[in-house]
Amino acid sequence: MHKIDPINVTVIGSLAVDMVVRLDDFPLPGQTIMAKSLDYFFGGKGANQAVAAARLGAKVKMIGKLGNDTHGARYRELLQSEGIDTSHLFTSADATGLAQIMINRAGENQICVIPAANHTFDLSDVAAIEEDLTEGSMVIMQHELHRDITQTLIRLCHEKKVRLILNPAPAYPIAEELLPMIDILTPNETELSVLTALPTETEAQVYAAARHLRDLGVRTVVTTIGSRGAVIADENGIRTVAGFPVKPVDTVAAGDSFNGALAYELSRGTSIDTAVRYANAVGAITVTGVGAIPSLPTADQLKAFLAERGIDI
Ligand code: RIB
Repeated sequence: MHKIDPINVTVIGSLAVDMVVRLDDFPLPGQTIMAKSLDYFFGGKGANQAVAAARLGAKVKMIGKLGNDTHGARYRELLQSEGIDTSHLFTSADATGLAQIMINRAGENQICVIPAANHTFDLSDVAAIEEDLTEGSMVIMQHELHRDITQTLIRLCHEKKVRLILNPAPAYPIAEELLPMIDILTPNETELSVLTALPTETEAQVYAAARHLRDLGVRTVVTTIGSRGAVIADENGIRTVAGFPVKPVDTVAAGDSFNGALAYELSRGTSIDTAVRYANAVGAITVTGVGAIPSLPTADQLKAFLAERGIDI
């Protein structure tokens, strides 16, 4: 009988087509500027995380909603060609989500998301995916589906004893009663500040804000701090796992690839410190490439990157 591989990581989240404009400097309010180029890439935080995990070797299921349009059809094909299970990737009457992204000469980005189909993921879709939320399974979500749906899903994952990673991007405050339902919360420094209403400019401030979330019941907080790496706060204390400095070309999807890698490594029993180290490397490789999905590394690329730095996996 044909053996079906068990899913390592279930991603519930967004899919979008990124319209990427490169320019020297971001425009100021009221200013018109001339751009250098415009490119289209597949993106969306959910799908980026799904492809990141799949390229590293995970068996991934992507749950979300695409538009009934050419973008949606092409995106579905792409995910299938990456070996991702799309059986619960639904189709909306709305258009596929879009993101307008500007990248300046320093490789920094500004992103504006048009949710479209992503915000039509509703309670009937939640009911249709309940069977995917099995005890002990690894689920990762972000903040690009509708806020009410995200809250419903956090509760449901908790009820079903799913291991939930929540990447709170883009950031908005999370109700305190939901915090103890999250196994691993993965903000960046800015998002950590929004979640806690505390400053996060220095490492000491990041430590204090992460401890605050732990006090409110989050089991593990992993805060990404750019090229410096990531800060883990869990029952074993708080510590920084160093990053891998590289020359950034385009930082879009660096956080997503970090999250996809983290979910995959944890799903196969890697310790949190080692998982974060690998995820830091995956994030670093991602910023050296252009576009979201095109810049996500494979397991071989990760291995080579680490080997160049004397790390064996
Ligand atoms: O994190 C990067 C992603 O954010 C982009 O791909 C864009 O679609 C937005 O969702």
